[in-house]
Amino acid sequence: MDNILQALKTHFGEYLSGEKLAKNSGITRAGVWKQIEHLRELGYTIESSPRHGYKLTALTPDLHPYEIQDGLATHVFGKEIFFQKEVDSTNRLARNLAYQGAREGTLVIAENQTQGKGRMGRRWDSKPGLGVWFSLILRPQVSMEALAGITILAAVVLSKAIDATCRFRPEIKWPNDLVFQGRKLAGILAEVSGEIDRIHYVVLGIGINVNHRADDFPPDLAEKAGSLAQSCTVGISRKLVLQTFLADFEKAYHNSFILGRMDEIIAFAKENSATLGKRVSVDQGFGKVHSGVARDLDNDGSLWLETASGGRVKIHSGELIENANSPKLAERTGDRQ
Ligand code: BTN
Repeated sequence: MDNILQALKTHFGEYLSGEKLAKNSGITRAGVWKQIEHLRELGYTIESSPRHGYKLTALTPDLHPYEIQDGLATHVFGKEIFFQKEVDSTNRLARNLAYQGAREGTLVIAENQTQGKGRMGRRWDSKPGLGVWFSLILRPQVSMEALAGITILAAVVLSKAIDATCRFRPEIKWPNDLVFQGRKLAGILAEVSGEIDRIHYVVLGIGINVNHRADDFPPDLAEKAGSLAQSCTVGISRKLVLQTFLADFEKAYHNSFILGRMDEIIAFAKENSATLGKRVSVDQGFGKVHSGVARDLDNDGSLWLETASGGRVKIHSGELIENANSPKLAERTGDRQ
């Protein structure tokens, strides 16, 4: 399959005879025809002529593994891909695969999620073709404390990848949302399986709103969610955003996260924070809410809050609520996607 698709791509818009394709890929002409039919089913537009052969005129619109891997500059991440046109949740599928032994760097991606999961048990709206909905299986040999850094790492790398491909830089809303002009563009959901002192696997789920126009979001998200296309000043490509993220994340994962050298990552998160300096409340569940001014990020990604009494509290995780009486917050909206 790869050979035939590659030959058609190299000669994009030109006819290639069935005979030539058969010879190049070492199969029969009937075999070529079968594979062409399969490529058409995947969404590739291939014209055929009895005299001239086959001509590729459009790639599949889907984020199919053939497309993701074409030009992907990674060593391991995304070399194994599970693609589904529709799935309930890529995180759920990735967890099953990880449980069955899928190796580190395995990518699970879908065009449509019927039950996309957000943080705190929320849903994640994931319509077909509009975003990049994926989960990466990781098997880091780090402590549970150090693991918290994985989501901030992903947020930083994604902000940079969006800057490189779309020419604008989203801010990081603690703990790990990407926002631009007050609208949420991307969310990260890391799920972990392990023992207190040994991580079995982490499923890092990321949803990026890419092609949405305002009316593509459900009414309850209309004021809160945004997409890359709404702010991008250049033509946008889901494939390029994903490939850039995967390549940069693989490097940062090994060089910063695994080696425990998170200083530059945290420095970037501070410089591009949508949270620091604001008056916020953090709901940690079980009725525990801390309020104060968000003052700093710790090296493990935790948030330092300055409370009314002038003391400081370190918060590892929770649901951030921006307080309406914070001067910068008046023009901002909530955070449900
Ligand atoms: C958040 O609430 O901000 C986290 C959203 C994470 C959504 C992504 S989409 C791909 C992956 N699969 C899921 O079911 N959720 C994550």
